Amino acid sequence: MKKRILVTGGTGYIGSHTVVELQNSGYEVIIVDNLSNSRADVVDNIEQITGERPAFEKVDCLDYAGLDGVFAKYPGIEGIIHFAASKAVGESVQKPLLYYRNNLVSLINILELMPKHGVKGIIFSSSCTVYGQPDILPVTEQAPIKKAESPYGNTKQVNEEIIRDTIASGSPIHAILLRYFNPIGAHPTALIGELPNGVPQNLIPYLTQTAIGIREKLSVFGDDYDTPDGSCIRDYIYVVDLAKAHVVAMNRILEDKQKDKVEVFNIGTGRGVSVLELINKFEEATGVKLNYQITGRRAGDIEKVWADPTYANTELGWKAGTSIEDTLRSAWKWQLKLRENGIM
Ligand code: NAD
Ligand code: WQD
Repeated sequence: MKKRILVTGGTGYIGSHTVVELQNSGYEVIIVDNLSNSRADVVDNIEQITGERPAFEKVDCLDYAGLDGVFAKYPGIEGIIHFAASKAVGESVQKPLLYYRNNLVSLINILELMPKHGVKGIIFSSSCTVYGQPDILPVTEQAPIKKAESPYGNTKQVNEEIIRDTIASGSPIHAILLRYFNPIGAHPTALIGELPNGVPQNLIPYLTQTAIGIREKLSVFGDDYDTPDGSCIRDYIYVVDLAKAHVVAMNRILEDKQKDKVEVFNIGTGRGVSVLELINKFEEATGVKLNYQITGRRAGDIEKVWADPTYANTELGWKAGTSIEDTLRSAWKWQLKLRENGIM
């Protein structure tokens, strides 16, 4: 009998890649998604990759009764991976209440329903954004949490506290908080990948859309930072490596291998790459010349952040092994596939 895992936000970018890896590892997956930032045909593409169609329920995690019904329809769910959230930093500044409601109430509903349905553990999608600009780099899980730069970042910090407080109050559930750095790239089949609505806010979708001609020019937001080439530095992690970290974390919970009821792991490569370096690596890896210009800084940008992933490497036995060149090639292959399929 396969173990059942509920994946909220499972037709989204990271969620869809994680569903593939969960299925590849022998789990039975139920996806809950309201399709506010993804498409239902992602389920078809997941099936095409793995040969197994995940169950899909179009439910809003804000709908307590609807979520309760999913647990009743699929008895015996042992774990949850909670991806469902709104995640656009800029939009969160314009619409803070939408972000607080969606990102906090969704989690609260999940945490209330877990004990009711005997769900053992939750893996939560957190973010390196909780560190702000770290004082020491690379950043470890012990680094202080800094005041969030946006309502979005604040929802991640508050979510972590909600989980800790719930478990400290005596809830029987377990949790692993995964703090992602910058996930990029797409599945090697190019059947799933990042499909942002409208004008991309994140670097890689904007970069590949520029490379294919959808966007006229990529703006590099500042080259006057205190970094070797003046542009910001990030820890770009291949989304499939990130997805695999979720499987390892879920195994850890379900096999009772946790050392505490709440654990935190930085999920990054440990490799800091600047924007200008990334552009050069993209051009080298794909042979495609990129049209870009240096412009002013973007408000709220962190200057430099990259992970110390030692704890995840040693304690989880997980490591992000994909090269930045292969990762960028996967992003480009995905962009070409979107063009081939007439999607963009
Ligand atoms: P995404 O927008 O592609 O996926 C989120 C999914 O959740 C979407 O399919 C959306 O339709 C769904 N969703 C949103 N609100 C929902 C609700 N109320 N009920 C049901 N479904 C809902 O985003 P992603 O990049 O895959 O991110 C997944 C998670 O990882 C998010 O929690 C995000 O904050 C977190 N995260 C992302 C990044 C990143 O750079 N992409 C970095 C750190 C953390
Ligand atoms: C990366 C770098 C930009 C676009 C954000 C959220 C974070 C997480 C990941 C959800 C920065 C530069 C970007 C462009 C550019 N999301 N850039 N031109 O800002 O590190 O993180 O997404 O959890 O919470 O904050 O990612 O891809 O937006 O930017 O020069 O057109 O690329 O200045 O240095 P970021 P990003």
